[in-house]
Amino acid sequence: MRLVPTDAPGAPPGARTGDARAVRAGARTGAPVAFRDVSPAREAPPAPAGAPPRPRAVRPVPLDVLGAAIGVPARGSATVTGVTLRASDARPGDLFAAVRGSRAHGADHAAVAIAAGAVAVLTDPDGARRPALAGVPLLVHPRPREVLGTVAAQVHGDPTAHLRVLGVTGTSGKTTTAYLLEAGLAAAGRTAGLVGTVGTRIDGRRLPTALTTPEAPDLQALFAVMVEDGVTDVAMEVSSHALAMGRVAGTRFAVAAFTNLSQDHLDFHRDMEDYFEAKAALFDGRAEHAVVCVDDEWGRRLAARTPGAVTVTAAGADAAWRAVDATTGHDGTQSFTAITPDGQRVPVRLRLPGAFNVANAVVALACLDAVGVPAAAAAEGFAQVAVPGRMQRIEEGQPFLAIVDYAHKPGAVAALLDALRPQVKGRLIVVLGCGGDRDRGKRPLMGAAAAARADVLIVTDDNPRTEDPAAIRAEMLAGAKAEPGAGELVEIGDRRAAIAAAVAYARPGDAVVVAGKGHETGQEVMGVKHPFDDAVELAEALRGMR
Ligand SMILES: Nc1ncnc2c1ncn2[C@@H]1O[C@H](COP(=O)(O)OP(=O)(O)O)[C@@H](O)[C@H]1O
Ligand SMILES: [Mg+2]
Repeated sequence: MRLVPTDAPGAPPGARTGDARAVRAGARTGAPVAFRDVSPAREAPPAPAGAPPRPRAVRPVPLDVLGAAIGVPARGSATVTGVTLRASDARPGDLFAAVRGSRAHGADHAAVAIAAGAVAVLTDPDGARRPALAGVPLLVHPRPREVLGTVAAQVHGDPTAHLRVLGVTGTSGKTTTAYLLEAGLAAAGRTAGLVGTVGTRIDGRRLPTALTTPEAPDLQALFAVMVEDGVTDVAMEVSSHALAMGRVAGTRFAVAAFTNLSQDHLDFHRDMEDYFEAKAALFDGRAEHAVVCVDDEWGRRLAARTPGAVTVTAAGADAAWRAVDATTGHDGTQSFTAITPDGQRVPVRLRLPGAFNVANAVVALACLDAVGVPAAAAAEGFAQVAVPGRMQRIEEGQPFLAIVDYAHKPGAVAALLDALRPQVKGRLIVVLGCGGDRDRGKRPLMGAAAAARADVLIVTDDNPRTEDPAAIRAEMLAGAKAEPGAGELVEIGDRRAAIAAAVAYARPGDAVVVAGKGHETGQEVMGVKHPFDDAVELAEALRGMR
């Protein structure tokens, strides 16, 4: 093991960290890029079953180097080759991050990690006092979760210094925009990675272990896997949760993009300001380029305070990138013209219905331009994009539009149906339910939002979890019935039967919209997840119609 300062003359070529870009970005964000790791790579230790992906090769890093990266001395010595937050995922050579959770302190599980081969522990002073940690090499930091990303990045050789990461934040449109980015990158010949709610992919290949919102150690390991696999660019969803929890600490962003902000996730954030500030953290200078959609007040505020922000509009605002002349087809496709900052007009075609997807697409174009993908090439990639459970069209040759969408909040239901309305000649037939064991207050609001916009609303079950499904439907129906503009209301608890009924109602030119569960593949009833996939069920109902 030999460590050389990054700016040392004669540092060997092929050293893992610290190209010029990384050093610049590091200097700006305070991210540590202090050393080039020139120790030889060795094969990674074996993985426990079901553990998240790790790189095939690792380079041992001394504990004191990790300590220096986060400004604390190492207590004891060890050589680290991996990091984990979950004791059950620990491998030989790991640093176990023992942080305080909502129920227990991670340090209580340290014995499990150590038995699995963990060689050191990162924890807080409280954790460090546990008897189980006596004699174990430690890094003790007052807020270990905040520095975990930085530590993990160091352990994995600062992988995002070798990748262009395009991060998308905002209340809605993250998954969709990330898919568009992935397609645009691929169309331009880049090797793309995707990190998001609906899955993780490398060059179009789905990773077997789905990481919904990767914790910092898993995320850095995933980036290291991507570097090994030759990925050049990564499209990534960045939730406000991930930002607030420090999960993207240690990640270098080439582009930070903002789609929009609306009342959502206020169960986690104190208020809208707090929520906005969490999202805005991605625009604190850590990204080389900022792209901001200025179609809502929050976007305008963010653009105004972000130096050099590239602005985007799909609503006729004053912005560098504009989408104009949007036209929709009754088959659910749409077209628009993107106007680039230098006045070029680029035709764009989307298979994704819904006006807001024009905004998502123009945000994606501006992001791709920032990393050198011309809009015309990107647009070619967009034409075929379909996102599982996001305005997902189900095609079985039926003479009406059939859509599966994840909308499961009042605002999202309203936005979904408002976006579809202009594209539907006939009636909107909506199948919707509300989840159990979650925010009860939104049930009547979801019922009302759907009833006000649907010609036929079929109230059904979502994931009842441990609640009585009939009681959930009653709360939703109460909101629907109180809505003065409500269309026809039908209650069918069985979701499969509800979908079949919607299809049976549909006439040419109508739209059947199955909302709430999107890409989910199960229905949770009393702690049991029964296989259920809206897209599969809707396709089956459509086939049964013929
Ligand atoms: N730009 C947008 N504005 C409003 N709603 C949107 C936008 N993009 C997508 N949606 C809707 O929001 C929901 C989630 O979309 P998705 O792309 O998965 O966003 P996220 O990953 O941010 O949750 C879907 O119901 C989708 O139809
Ligand atoms: Mg998402």
